[in-house]
Amino acid sequence: MKIIGGPASQLLASRVARELNDKPVVCEFDKFPDGEQYIRILDGDIENERVTIIQCTYTDSDLISLLQLIDACEDAKQINVVIPYLGYSRQDKKFKNGEAISARAITRTLTADNVFTVNVHEKSILEYIDANNTTDLEASYLMGNHIESLDLKNPLIVAPDSGAIYLAENASSKTGIEYDYLEKERISGDEVSIKTKNMDITGRDVVLIDDMIATGGTMAESIKILKSQGANDVYLACVHPVLAKNAVLRLFNAGVRDIISTDTIEKAESAVSVAPLIADSLNKI
Ligand code: R5P
Repeated sequence: MKIIGGPASQLLASRVARELNDKPVVCEFDKFPDGEQYIRILDGDIENERVTIIQCTYTDSDLISLLQLIDACEDAKQINVVIPYLGYSRQDKKFKNGEAISARAITRTLTADNVFTVNVHEKSILEYIDANNTTDLEASYLMGNHIESLDLKNPLIVAPDSGAIYLAENASSKTGIEYDYLEKERISGDEVSIKTKNMDITGRDVVLIDDMIATGGTMAESIKILKSQGANDVYLACVHPVLAKNAVLRLFNAGVRDIISTDTIEKAESAVSVAPLIADSLNKI
């Protein structure tokens, strides 16, 4: 199988190729003078080969690159697509009259034999993809391994809302660390109200875990609550480090000890690689 890394997931693709004892295919990524993107697969003949394209769609131009790569692989025998972070997945329904279901608009553009995502925000949107199989991979167990390797004081893993409990539970199942959750109500795009449950966190190190950190509003508010209740260090763990605008500054201002994420989006916070998870799934097709 040939592994092709898109411009936004070159490191992850290289790590997946290494897991499979292979090397990633080299591509050329360029731009025309008018700003339009250009992609060319440079090495390796992909005709009648099985190929796997790995590219997150964090930005709009990442999505264009993915579509171009799928098109460039037209002569392959089998096309697999791994989208470690699928952008627009949170607009999975009409919240107000007249809105686009952006997640549907995006996924409808994708055609492949097998499509893999990682902790996609809403699994039902995968049904819009034109593929024989779609699979959403679960990265929280890998996060658990990393949390275990931190030298934490009487640790507790906490989900910032009930929707993220499964992440805390999975990470906890790997580590034996206790877990709990907070109660969140969203007020606006970057404002949330968080209430605590009755948990004793005095003097404990807490790891807040979520699928993604976007504006940091949810986590900043959660850190404030935990600190006010006597938590020692508060760490943040997420699968997707969207970290939009000034989220990092906002979180350190709120008193976070460190931010840990996976490489579904390649950032400085991406300490945990999902490469073994992806390689394992590719080995099964
Ligand atoms: C929401 O459903 C998600 O799981 C995250 O909690 C949310 O996207 C985080 O957004 P923000 O960082 O902007 O509060």
